[in-house]
Amino acid sequence: MRGMGGGGGGGHGGPRREKSKPPGWGVVLRESAVLVRQHRGRLGVGLILLAVSRAAALVAPASAGWLLDHVVAGKRPDLLLPLAAAVLVAAVVQSGAGYALSQLLGVAAQRAIHSMRLELHWHVLRLPVARFDATQSGQLVSRVMNDAEGIRNLVGNGIVQLVGGLLTAGVVFVILLWLNWQLTLAVAGLLAVFGAATAIALTRLRPIFRERGQTQAEITGRMTQVLGGIRAVKAYAAETREQDAFRAGAERLFSHIRTTITGFSVLGALGTLVVGISAAVLILVGGQALLAGTMSAGQLFTYVMYVALMTAPVLQIAAIGTQMTEAFAGLDRIRELRAQATEDADAAGRSACPRLSGAVELREVVFGYNPERPVLHGVSLRAEPGQTIALVGPSGSGKTTLVSLIMGFHRPQSGAILLDGADLAGLRLDSYRRQLGVVLQDNVVFDGTVRDNLLFARPEATQDALDAAAEAAAALGFIRELEKGWDTVVGERGVKLSGGQRQRLAIARALLADPRILVLDEATSALDSESEAEVQGALARLRHGRTTFVIAHRLSTIRSADQILVLEGGRIAERGRHDELLAGGGLYRRLHDRQSGLAAELFRNPGEA
Ligand SMILES: Nc1ncnc2c1ncn2[C@@H]1O[C@H](COP(=O)(O)OP(=O)(O)O)[C@@H](O)[C@H]1O
Ligand SMILES: [Mg+2]
Repeated sequence: MRGMGGGGGGGHGGPRREKSKPPGWGVVLRESAVLVRQHRGRLGVGLILLAVSRAAALVAPASAGWLLDHVVAGKRPDLLLPLAAAVLVAAVVQSGAGYALSQLLGVAAQRAIHSMRLELHWHVLRLPVARFDATQSGQLVSRVMNDAEGIRNLVGNGIVQLVGGLLTAGVVFVILLWLNWQLTLAVAGLLAVFGAATAIALTRLRPIFRERGQTQAEITGRMTQVLGGIRAVKAYAAETREQDAFRAGAERLFSHIRTTITGFSVLGALGTLVVGISAAVLILVGGQALLAGTMSAGQLFTYVMYVALMTAPVLQIAAIGTQMTEAFAGLDRIRELRAQATEDADAAGRSACPRLSGAVELREVVFGYNPERPVLHGVSLRAEPGQTIALVGPSGSGKTTLVSLIMGFHRPQSGAILLDGADLAGLRLDSYRRQLGVVLQDNVVFDGTVRDNLLFARPEATQDALDAAAEAAAALGFIRELEKGWDTVVGERGVKLSGGQRQRLAIARALLADPRILVLDEATSALDSESEAEVQGALARLRHGRTTFVIAHRLSTIRSADQILVLEGGRIAERGRHDELLAGGGLYRRLHDRQSGLAAELFRNPGEA
């Protein structure tokens, strides 16, 4: 609703950086455990498939050793065929299991991302308005879309490969110890060094992954704002400035990625080195064992292939570990989002709002966006059902803030808002807001067809109901004249409609919603006097029978209100009906006189006498 102010003119300061330190591994492991448990069925099957595939992989090295020692040395050509058949069967099993595994886990991972996104989107929608004031919407988009993507590695192939790799390495390690424990300890020592290096690298990389997600969110945040305010960007020729801002973010992103690549490269090089050193050790120690006759050629061959089987998963762990680190970083950011309480966090303790007759009372309401600087200082008012309450006062006096409180967007710091005598703090917001209607100055039209925009208020409305609402809003005429009538797509924020048309659409929508309480915040302020005249009639029909809070600059709108409240600096300075307030000769009188003067000036050019 607000938000677009200063779209690209540098009005928004630098990107907001929410720095926080990454949580310890304990928290991360606990959360991963939750995710893993949610998907345990598929992960379990995945692990079994992996075990089958790994067991099948053990057949070939064992057979090769057997070939050398028993078939060749023992001169048993009759064993050749069964041996080859065993290897072949093992290969078929391994390939089948591998296929099923990646299929299963690929889908499982995407399913996890899918449900995570749904959950996050739902969470974001229910965050209080203040959150949206403080966070660029693009950042929230990035959380839902990109950060959720990261858990792919946690629920999918990554974790199964990790567990499977460790299990295989463990089993093979035992076999190797049994075959030749001295040699095995030497190789295992090397792998341990590599493992330690990996652990260090991953701990270093985790904050970088975290930063990366944050940077990505910031870039998305700024970019959505800039695109939303593209007219302002162009009008102020701010394209190069925006490009520079984008470049700064993109370069930060690039440098994060460069660092992580360096990390991988070091680990990769280290891995290759470990393999090389093990090979040298094997030649040296194994060769001696062969010469001394303590090991047969077949045994050494089998041994070497088993070493490869043990080393491969350990080296793989480095790569998988990085993916997991990325997943953890995503989870970190997701956790921050989830930790923000939604508006309905305490819904269980509230009761559903019954159908209201529309009495609204504010008792000594104090509220400030920053609690130390109240915007409203103890405002009290009482609207009887069906009354129209006009709020007037200088810009910044707190009119919009007052109606935001009535709409439940913010909570009073002290005092209370009563609806038909019930405290809003004890009512469920969703059931209350279903009885609210609102027409604002702008930003009320979504991209979609004219029909979609009306149905938004009441999805089940019939075409007759749509026609009736549009008619009453003085919108039916122009809707029928649109290129495709009700099916015309109106563009983002309704850019393809004129201001007056947008307003009449918003009024039709509010009519369709049939609210008990109506808020009109500067609904006609952006219109020229001709459109305003058209909209006025529609607004009068909309107001009929509903408690209405109307904020308007033009005092003509206000004349007929049941009560006029004049706000000044967050306090109600005057209240009464039009004539009383005029007679009182206070602030209202001054505002009125200035307006009348303006009206007289309206057809004169600036500077004309
Ligand atoms: N979302 C917000 N966050 C912080 N301050 C705000 C916010 N909205 C309004 N304000 C401040 O609150 C005061 C009252 O604003 P507002 O209620 O919009 O006034 P009005 O509608 O009467 O012009 C102003 O000083 C304004 O700067
Ligand atoms: Mg306002």
